[in-house]
Amino acid sequence: MIKHETIEKNIGLMILLIILVISGGGLAEIVPLFFTNATTKPIEGLRTYTPLELEGRDIYIREGCHVCHTQQIRPFRAETERYGHYSTANEGVWEHPFLWGSKRTGPDLARVGGRYSDDWHRAHLYNPRDVVPESKMPTYPWLFENKLSGEDTAAKMRVLAKLGVPYTEEDASKAREQVEGKAEIDAVIAYLQALGKLHSQYTNKR
Ligand code: HEC
Repeated sequence: MIKHETIEKNIGLMILLIILVISGGGLAEIVPLFFTNATTKPIEGLRTYTPLELEGRDIYIREGCHVCHTQQIRPFRAETERYGHYSTANEGVWEHPFLWGSKRTGPDLARVGGRYSDDWHRAHLYNPRDVVPESKMPTYPWLFENKLSGEDTAAKMRVLAKLGVPYTEEDASKAREQVEGKAEIDAVIAYLQALGKLHSQYTNKR
């Protein structure tokens, strides 16, 4: 039996034991999440992103939108009254990488789909201050000029399929024709309009 005093006087041993305790606790908390239905089974009726929405999602990541916007509504009244039903793990099983975020400079966007018209988003992304005078969100004029080539869309879908997203080979082979030549702004808006609308389980109005 090692005495407590021995541990306290031997920093190497103490570090080793601390690592063991933290790893044990961490494993007990994290490992079950890989196996419980609540985190691995998609919510009923969940659909995948269309190729255009998927490209919009990648532009959203490229432009760093997720640095200012979370996509995670917490289960508090102040949040659910403003944004809608709190986010659940089974809504995000096909999100790779997930965009829950932790820093809100702007509002949460988890259920922004359908909240504004496409025209509103268009004006807002061109210059946020045209529609929200006090906004400090940056402008994104290049999204209106850049066109999508659709070259990589199928490859992206095949990778996601490997990670468990139910895209078929047929979906991938038709992807390019659905995005080629479209402006980046159209992809971003398609993505924003899909947020919170990939299933219809939570019907409460936001
Ligand atoms: C520097 C931080 C910042 C970045 C980066 C940013 N935003 Fe924002 N966003 C804001 C702020 C602040 C607001 C609130 C004022 C407004 O509506 O413009 C906002 C509002 C919004 C809204 C309206 C949400 C609502 O519920 O009213 C949408 C949609 C949005 N942003 C999308 C985007 C997209 C898409 C990108 C990336 C292309 C982006 N934002 C990048 C700060 C940011």
